[in-house]
Amino acid sequence: MVDVNTALDEAGLTNPRVREYVAHWAAITQPDRVEVVGAADDARLVQEALDAGELLPAGEGRYYSRSYYKDTARSEERTVVATSNESDKGAYNNWKPAAEMTELLTERMRGASAGKTMYVIPYLMAPPGSPLEQYAAGVELTDSRPVVLHMMRMSRVGSSYVDNLEDPDSFVRAVHVTGDLENLGQGTPEDQRYFATVADERTILHYGSSYGGNALLGKIAHGLRQACYDGRASGAFLAEQFMLLGITDKETGKRWHICGGFPSASGKTNLAMTLAPDALGDRYHVEFYGDDIAWLWVGDDGRVYGMNPENGVFGVAKDTNEKTNPTALDSIGEGSGVIFTNVAYNPQTHEVWWEGMTKNPPEDVTGWQDWKGELISERAADDTSPWAHPNSRFTTTLANVPNVAGDFEAPAGVPIDAIIFGGRTSDREPLVRAITDLAEGVYDGLTLGAEATFAAEGVDGQLRYDPMSMRPFMAYGEGDYAAHWLKIIGSATDRPIFAHVNWFQRGEDGHFRWPGYRDNLRALLWLARFKDGEVTGRQTPVGVLPTVEELELDGVDITPEDLEIILTIDNARWRQEMGFREEHLKAFERVPEEIWEAHRRVSAALDAEA
Ligand code: GDP
Ligand code: PGA
Ligand code: MN
Repeated sequence: MVDVNTALDEAGLTNPRVREYVAHWAAITQPDRVEVVGAADDARLVQEALDAGELLPAGEGRYYSRSYYKDTARSEERTVVATSNESDKGAYNNWKPAAEMTELLTERMRGASAGKTMYVIPYLMAPPGSPLEQYAAGVELTDSRPVVLHMMRMSRVGSSYVDNLEDPDSFVRAVHVTGDLENLGQGTPEDQRYFATVADERTILHYGSSYGGNALLGKIAHGLRQACYDGRASGAFLAEQFMLLGITDKETGKRWHICGGFPSASGKTNLAMTLAPDALGDRYHVEFYGDDIAWLWVGDDGRVYGMNPENGVFGVAKDTNEKTNPTALDSIGEGSGVIFTNVAYNPQTHEVWWEGMTKNPPEDVTGWQDWKGELISERAADDTSPWAHPNSRFTTTLANVPNVAGDFEAPAGVPIDAIIFGGRTSDREPLVRAITDLAEGVYDGLTLGAEATFAAEGVDGQLRYDPMSMRPFMAYGEGDYAAHWLKIIGSATDRPIFAHVNWFQRGEDGHFRWPGYRDNLRALLWLARFKDGEVTGRQTPVGVLPTVEELELDGVDITPEDLEIILTIDNARWRQEMGFREEHLKAFERVPEEIWEAHRRVSAALDAEA
């Protein structure tokens, strides 16, 4: 039996409830060793991982890793929220009874860390001193060293975060056991994996993956799913899959903070990191706060505040290049400590490559391996599969991001001026539409979606709805979630404006009508000005749109035809969409009457204009 107490004593970890928790799970998973880690252990653990071949060198202070080839993305079918209260069941959260999931996962995990080290990672999902700090502490137990290294980049790690808790019991228990990845039946009827958040016990039990989205429990399981649940249980806050950024107008000194939700792989990281103030002269300064999670609450002054609970970026590599996202490239340079996962790699030169990094892949393929480790030189001539996995990622800390905000760790958070939603929509959704009414804004978030990716998945033009971009992270029922949003934002006396944005309208030949990426700043500037009453826009049934004159368009590469289309409402398509929305909302229980009223108001306005 492993000696847990000695390991905890050596690390000086004193919280008695944390010690009990570690001992409890060590007895179940039966590791050979227990080791408590903190940020200061990073260099040593990196070296150990290099020696063990878990990491490979990718340049000075840059590292490469592969996850098992059947383990490269979050698995929504295997992810559940478990509680002891069936009324927590929603349309999307795969609700299960807490007792059943705890028993099942305890059995899966029994003896499953034999021969391995159990790392104890105390962490904090908040800037220290935040008013939400009491919901932010956790302890992840993992039997994977690469998971430890990712957690050290993505969250604040150290024993002090759990040793000084006011209530020693108020930490999230987050247990990660990798399992035998080669024998888990991923994606088959015999799938052994389960990723459960036992939300009313603040316990996370994830078995059967070492991929970031399933294994970095501070990030998605705690920062989103658990926090979503805690936000409602406490009545105190919202936890959302949101990016957060700041814009300063240097001429007037005005400063705006904008947060917002886009479904996974719809552009949060890019929007938060890469807006191009230089394209608009030297007038604006854009700052990065966060790219994937924001927690929101109402301050004593009646404003909505937001903060990023994370300490790093877990970005999609594909299409990241000097033109689309130079900021991302700057944040993964020499000495950054970045970890690349599942991109292409050359063990001879230590270079990495992914689709869209450069126009063409390296000409000399000598040594190059694809994301599975197979030599490119040995590929069949007709093999056109990508070198990098489409969900390959880079993991880097916030401090590496060149335009990270000076106050990104300010405990008070930042006041929020606008909340935006956006998905991938190839027609109908204009560039930006502003929504001033609270219920219509929440309604817009609830009906957010992105296009279905497989033709078989739905009717043409029908979205895969993803309320507030929280579909994979929703902890309780959607109607109650809408009510909680109305309550929290409704309690602010000085409210943010809402807006819907779309960077993804396409022409018949498939080209993007709007250049997107760094030019998206122009849509946000219009929104900020609209909120401040400096421009009036044009009222439509679905919100206020900018006029061409109001948008700053100097230097934008767009045809007049495309510009007109992205600033127009297609009434017939919108009325078709309203029918889909009605069905979507009917799938939810307890949708607040205010939301239905908003739906009927928008429908009636569209009908009146038809
Ligand atoms: P996230 O998962 O929501 O953070 O999304 P990312 O920012 O990582 O982007 C996902 C994908 O969308 C990447 O391949 C980006 O290159 C692409 N993307 C992001 N922003 C834009 C945009 O404004 N226009 C276009 N056409 N593509 C974009
Ligand atoms: P993203 O975040 O896909 O939104 O970048 C990681 C995840 O949700 O798995
Ligand atoms: Mn995400």
